[in-house]
Amino acid sequence: MGEKVFIFDTTLRDGEQAPGFSMTAEEKVQMAHQLARLGVDVIEAGFAAASKGDFEAVRRIAEEVKGPVICSLSRAIESDIEASAEALKPAERKRIHTFIATSEIHMKYKLRMTPEEVLERAKKAVSFARRFTDDVEFSCEDATRSEREFLYRVIEEAIKAGATVINIPDTVGYAIPEEFGRLISDIMNNVPNIDKVILSVHCHDDLGLAVANSLTAVKNGARQVECTVNGIGERAGNAALEEIVMALKVRKDFFGDLYTEVNTKEIYRTSRLLCMITGSFVPRNKAIVGDNAFAHESGIHQHGVLSNRLTYEIMNPEDVGFPTSRIVLGKHSGRHALKKKLEEYGIRYTEEDVNRIFEKLKDLADRKKEIYDEDVEALIYQEFMRVEEGEPVEVKHFQVQTGDNMLPTATVKLAFKGEEKTATETGNGPVDATIKAIQKALGTNAKLLDYSIKALTPNTDAQAEARVVLELEGVQASGRGVDTDIIKASVKAYVDALNRAILRKEYILQKSGLREEGTV
Ligand code: KIV
Ligand code: ZN
Repeated sequence: MGEKVFIFDTTLRDGEQAPGFSMTAEEKVQMAHQLARLGVDVIEAGFAAASKGDFEAVRRIAEEVKGPVICSLSRAIESDIEASAEALKPAERKRIHTFIATSEIHMKYKLRMTPEEVLERAKKAVSFARRFTDDVEFSCEDATRSEREFLYRVIEEAIKAGATVINIPDTVGYAIPEEFGRLISDIMNNVPNIDKVILSVHCHDDLGLAVANSLTAVKNGARQVECTVNGIGERAGNAALEEIVMALKVRKDFFGDLYTEVNTKEIYRTSRLLCMITGSFVPRNKAIVGDNAFAHESGIHQHGVLSNRLTYEIMNPEDVGFPTSRIVLGKHSGRHALKKKLEEYGIRYTEEDVNRIFEKLKDLADRKKEIYDEDVEALIYQEFMRVEEGEPVEVKHFQVQTGDNMLPTATVKLAFKGEEKTATETGNGPVDATIKAIQKALGTNAKLLDYSIKALTPNTDAQAEARVVLELEGVQASGRGVDTDIIKASVKAYVDALNRAILRKEYILQKSGLREEGTV
């Protein structure tokens, strides 16, 4: 049968920590159900001690999601470990993941601790965590910049204290594959009790080497890979789950009898669900899940693929669940087809949800001949993925005048926490004028970082999808809006991002006890 490589998914912890990827507890639960369907071995559901929201998300996932081991991160501090243990209580299978930095620079400047103190803390944390579960993972943060002999000692002692998984993070994405592979084989050869645990790796992508480093580690003895869907994560991100899993599957000739238990046919759906939830999409040329991953534009390539797929394709789109047919629902499709679609996306729904979306779908079908997957996704996003209760900004009405030989002018009427506001502005185009009018009405200092718009499908009656990334007083958020009208799509995306940023900012202020009401 071969040897298994365990897939530890940290999309909901390390992935979610990245600016623009924050998720509500409900969104995390939706995502965790899909990760279970994908067949990952471990879901790192959050950092229970970080906030009430994180605790709640871990607890709900522990309660509701069956199959994978549910894990919570904790610093090597008793109160963090207790919070993880409490949040994980309802889980069928639980893991506490505790960590402390072992590099000189982190110990000296961040922890202000001596190596001996770090060693003691690591041992204590692991044995304390073992009181709550017999599955304890220990990570040596910044392992790739740690002094070798010290690293071996910490690992050996953590195993003696009861760790069952030892994780080697390349925290700052500094490693080079050959060197990282050597580090893993050196650990295998120099830590006497290493055979008692699963050796894991956790690579960041600062030099674009996270996947390469993880794969080299596997080749050298690591049997757990920590990764995230679409490679989201701190700074440049983490190793992309879909790339690791498909590399191991497609290059069996190179990796030998190693295998994962991921159901690769769920990969594309999982990637899209994450995009819908976070409002942040992958580049067209992203490996495995990008729009162009299986597109053959040039004549030579098309000819080759038509004669024999293997000329230019190293895997089949079906292997990762990549859609091959585009039109999905028509004017006459029934509720049953819609329910099937919702299930395909891994969305949990009520009859009421189905009725509401069905009405919107019928309305769209009146305006648009054919409904594509992208249109249904857009509706799902609008109905399920918007910010939860109490969106602070609500657009009541807007009107734009534009044409040649005139200055585009927009008037907006909106409500901010129930209070009506109106404004008129001009701009160098209708979208510019409308967004400026919204900003003026709200008096917001939100900074637009990115704006893009594209047709979802290839016709003039297509829906346009606008995406916005903005920053509000240090808080980044992304939003998405879809409509057959490009200005409406842009307004929806802008307001979606703004609402997410406002709620996130309020949440951060609440946590720090500095709540500011009524400000944007
Ligand atoms: O990058 C890192 O070092 C981490 C650890 C907490 C595992 O995320
Ligand atoms: Zn990390």
